[in-house]
Amino acid sequence: MQYNNIISDFTDGITTITINRPTKLNALNKATIFELHAAFKMAESDFDTKVIILTGSGEKAFVAGADISEFAHFDEESGRLLSKEGHDLLFDFVENLTTPVIAAVNGFALGGGLELAMSAHFRLASSNARMGLPEVSLGLIPGYGGTQRLAQLIGKGRALELIMTASMIDAEKALDYGLVNYVVPQDELLPKCIDLAHKIKSNSSLAISAAIKAVNANYRDGVNGFDVEISEFGTCFGTEDFEEGTTAFLEKRNSKFTGK
Ligand code: COA
Repeated sequence: MQYNNIISDFTDGITTITINRPTKLNALNKATIFELHAAFKMAESDFDTKVIILTGSGEKAFVAGADISEFAHFDEESGRLLSKEGHDLLFDFVENLTTPVIAAVNGFALGGGLELAMSAHFRLASSNARMGLPEVSLGLIPGYGGTQRLAQLIGKGRALELIMTASMIDAEKALDYGLVNYVVPQDELLPKCIDLAHKIKSNSSLAISAAIKAVNANYRDGVNGFDVEISEFGTCFGTEDFEEGTTAFLEKRNSKFTGK
């Protein structure tokens, strides 16, 4: 597929998806959301992609939010549709991918930008990054999962303060809140993500997918996470990766996982 708003690059088991609208601070317009959906879908179905890194182009922004110019004239019905389509195509979609997704937050991550970073399985930030959900300053609330995922990640009180004040936090505060796992200088952000991606891809990709499903189950209504864990745990025993992992341990050698 030809992309106009993103760049997707595959190197050594890692697909890096870069949102590429720097003059609009990588704001998420509809076309970008469609392209991201397609790129994530392609990476998920590519057997050779073991980790996906998501970042923004330029040094200023990861994503400065949903593209305000596209929805400024919407009515209630179109607003609901915008939110629902976003959840389905991108935000829930990314969270539920079974290929690990790391967000490299390289600058502003506001509104839909922070919501996208929160859909990833975990996040790193550059030291210049600033994060927030400023929607109430536009007369809106976060509509791409932010009211749910921010509270899950940093707790209800902190999430409500951030949402109600529409303020931004810096990278160090985000680290303190557990919103990001690491803060590094901007030029070290992608190398650090790649380093983590290599550690991840040395493990069984099937087991990692099972772990994502089990952890995510805790956040889904009407699903018992412990039951999902029991089921996924059992499924692992039927894989070649399990046989290889346990055999390699007993033979005191490194595992060579095939993802089968
Ligand atoms: N939607 C549409 N366009 C956006 C945007 C968004 N969410 N965020 C930034 N842009 C555009 C600006 O309109 C501007 O375009 P222009 O040069 O054609 O006028 C360009 O990106 C650069 O942004 P600018 O505001 O000039 O940069 P800044 O350094 O002065 O401020 C921000 C940076 C991030 C503080 C500011 O852009 C901002 O507040 N953005 C909106 C954040 C937001 O409310 N997000 C939630 C949306 S639901």
